[in-house]
This record gives sequence, C-alpha cells and structure tokens, in this order.
Amino acid sequence: MKGDLLLVSSIIVLMHMVFGCPEKCLCHQTSKTVDCRNQGLVEIPSHIPPETLILQLQNNHIWRINQNAFSETPLLKILDLSNNSVSNLSSGVFQGLRYLQVLNLTKNLIYYLENKTFSSLPQLKELDLSSNSILNLPETLGNNTGNITLLSVKYNKLQRLDRILLESLPNLKVVLFKNNPWECTCHVIGLKLWLESFLYRGGISDGIICSTPENRKGKDLLKVPYEMYGTCPPTAAQVHLANIHHHSSEHRSSLKHTHHNENGESSHSDCEPKPKPRPVSLRHAIATVVITGVVCGIVCLMMLAAAVYGCAYAAITAKYHREHLAPVTELGSPEEKEPFDSSLA
Ligand SMILES: *[C@@H]1O[C@H](CO)[C@@H](O)[C@H](O)[C@H]1NC(C)=O
Ligand SMILES: *[C@@H]1O[C@H](CO)[C@@H](O)[C@H](O)[C@H]1NC(C)=O
Ligand SMILES: *[C@@H]1O[C@H](CO)[C@@H](O)[C@H](O)[C@H]1NC(C)=O
Ligand SMILES: *[C@@H]1O[C@H](CO)[C@@H](O)[C@H](O)[C@H]1NC(C)=O
Ligand SMILES: *[C@@H]1O[C@H](CO)[C@@H](O)[C@H](O)[C@H]1NC(C)=O
Ligand SMILES: *[C@@H]1O[C@H](CO)[C@@H](O)[C@H](O)[C@H]1NC(C)=O
Repeated sequence: MKGDLLLVSSIIVLMHMVFGCPEKCLCHQTSKTVDCRNQGLVEIPSHIPPETLILQLQNNHIWRINQNAFSETPLLKILDLSNNSVSNLSSGVFQGLRYLQVLNLTKNLIYYLENKTFSSLPQLKELDLSSNSILNLPETLGNNTGNITLLSVKYNKLQRLDRILLESLPNLKVVLFKNNPWECTCHVIGLKLWLESFLYRGGISDGIICSTPENRKGKDLLKVPYEMYGTCPPTAAQVHLANIHHHSSEHRSSLKHTHHNENGESSHSDCEPKPKPRPVSLRHAIATVVITGVVCGIVCLMMLAAAVYGCAYAAITAKYHREHLAPVTELGSPEEKEPFDSSLA
C-alpha cells in the first residue's frame, strides 16, 4: 500500500520532470493546455512546457509579470490572466508571443497602458481589458494591431477615448464600452462619428452612455444631437461641422480666443455646451425656407411661361390651319383629301 503510493507519487513527479509541468498546474498533453487556475500564484510559474498553446492563469494573485515571462512559451495562442492583481504592464511583457490570438486581462488592477504594450502581438484577435481601472488609453495599442476583432474596455474609468485608437483597428467587429464615466462634452464628437460609422458598417457595440456633464447623464451618446456639444478647440473631426456652421463658428472661435487669454486652463470651459444653439438652427431653417421659396417661384414662373408659349403656339397654329389649309380641303377632290387625312392621323 505504502509502496503503491510512493510509486504513484514518484511517477507523477517523474511525469512533471519529463514534461516539465509547473507544480500547482495541470498539463494536458493532447490539447497542449496548462491549467494553473485557482492556485494562489503571485507570479507566472516557471517550467511551462514550451509547446503550450493555452495557458490558464485565472483566479490567482499574480501582480508582477517579469519582462521575459513568456519567452519560454513562444507558441501561446490563448493567455488568460483574468481575475488577478496585475497593475503595471511594462512594455516588454508580451514580447515574442507572435502567435497569441486571445489575451484576457479582465478583472485586474491595470490603470495605465503604454502604447507599445501589445506591439509584439501581430496575430492578436481578442483583447479583453474589461473590469480594470484604466483611466486613459494611448492613441495606439501598438504598431501591429491590425488583426484585432474584439476589444473590451467595459467597466473601467475611461472618460475619453481617442478616435485615432479605434481607427487603428481596421478589422474590429465587436467593441464593448459600457460602464465607464464617459464625458459627453465636445471632445466626444470624434468618438460619436466613429461609432456611427462603425455601426453602419455592421460593427457590434454595447454603446456609450454619458456620465458627465450632469444634464447628459444616462443619455446615449448616439442620441445627443451634434449642436449640443458646444465648441472645442478645432480638431480634424470638427472641420466638417465647422464648415456647416461656417458663419457662426467664426464668431464662436473669436469668443473662445478671448476666453483663453483670460485664464490659461480654459479648455474645459471651452467644452461647456453653447447656451444658445437654437438661433443657429433657426437661422438655418429660415435660410432653407427662403431658398426653397425662391426655387419654387422660379420653377412656377418657368411653367407659366411654358404654358403661355404653348397657348400662343396653339393659337397661331390653329390660325395658320384655318387660313392655309381650309382652301385646300375645299378645292381638293376626295382622292386627294384621303391621303392627307391619313398622314395626319
Ligand atoms: C477570483 O479569484 C479568487 C481567488 O483569487 C476567487 O476566490 C474568486 O472566486 C474569483 N472570482 C471569480 C469571479 O471567478
Ligand atoms: C512598472 O514596472 C516597471 C518595471 O517592471 C517600472 O520600471 C515602472 O516604473 C513601473 N511603472 C509604474 C507606473 O509603476
Ligand atoms: C475573459 O475571461 C472572462 C472570465 O474570466 C470571460 O467572461 C470573458 O469572456 C473572457 N474574454 C474573452 C475575450 O474571452
Ligand atoms: C508612444 O508614446 C510616447 C510618449 O508617451 C510617444 O513619444 C511615442 O511617439 C508614442 N508612440 C506611438 C507609436 O504612438
Ligand atoms: C513595432 O514596434 C516595435 C517596438 O516598438 C519595433 O521593434 C517593430 O519594428 C515595430 N514594427 C513595425 C512593423 O513597425
Ligand atoms: C494578421 O494576421 C495574418 C495571419 O493571420 C498576418 O499575416 C498579418 O501580418 C497580420 N496583420 C497584421 C496587421 O498584423
């Protein structure tokens, strides 16, 4: 009995040595999966078999990931670090994971991401950053993010998200935004335009619900009209709006400049909603009515002219018929008259 137990345990130890499975983990040879879930780990375990494709590290207390933590497992396709204590991802952490497709970092303590963090992951398709404390995302997630189809940033502390970041992900199909304190001031216009176009192209999103300012709290970003955002320092996204409101924006930007000179950090007040967007749209409405009226008038006059011309022409033709053709019918014999009638018919 004792000997059997010893034998079994030595076989297990031997197996671990032969296949190099970390203690506290289960290594499944056929699926090339290493399961280290719920083990109270504080670091990435060493001796993970190099052929591993799936590494499950969820529900641990991992808080530190060394620079070359995954250099021994270059074939990883799925890396699940969800429900850990990771707060600081230095840029070289995922170096060398050329085949990684799914990276799950949900339920960690990440508050900051460097723009190079995911640069070395050319095959990355799904990136789950939900349920962290991210305050800000960089303008790019790396120079190799073209294959990302799913991005989740829900349950974070994002107030803004640069449209440039989203535009750098051309194959995005699903993007999850909910439960962030989105700030729906003028700065959000780029995001709104992007989201409209994304949904139009068939993308899937859970939408953006505004959190601030107070009067837009709980409102869907897509349902907040453009005029309500007020002015911002001009950005590329707004050039198009500025062109529409050409006249009034000239006036507004001059206002903005005087404001800037008064107090240096006025960019926030620049973003406050314009108190009276209505006169602009009213002026637009009036202009539209006037233009429509003028166009209608011209068309009516043309139709009248055409009618008058038509009547005059008919009258003249009738008169001509009476004066010149009548004698012919009087003089002509039945034989001559018949072909003439049939040619008219
Ligand atoms: C997260 O991990 C802890 C152990 O570290 C576990 O007790 C808890 O149930 C896990 N939460 C979820 C949602 O799985
Ligand atoms: C993150 O960790 C790296 C080393 O791994 C360190 O150099 C850097 O200062 C840390 N950053 C923050 C914000 O803690
Ligand atoms: C990440 O893991 C969580 C559970 O830990 C799961 O609900 C979620 O779907 C995973 N995300 C992806 C992109 O697979
Ligand atoms: C990454 O951010 C740094 C500053 O934090 C910047 O100098 C660099 O140009 C950025 N790189 C990319 C690719 O955006
Ligand atoms: C991406 O960035 C990394 C480091 O920032 C660099 O080594 C690599 O050459 C870049 N790749 C491309 C395609 O620009
Ligand atoms: C996307 O993945 C393909 C292989 O599936 C790869 O050849 C290509 O370089 C990747 N694209 C980018 C932008 O990284």
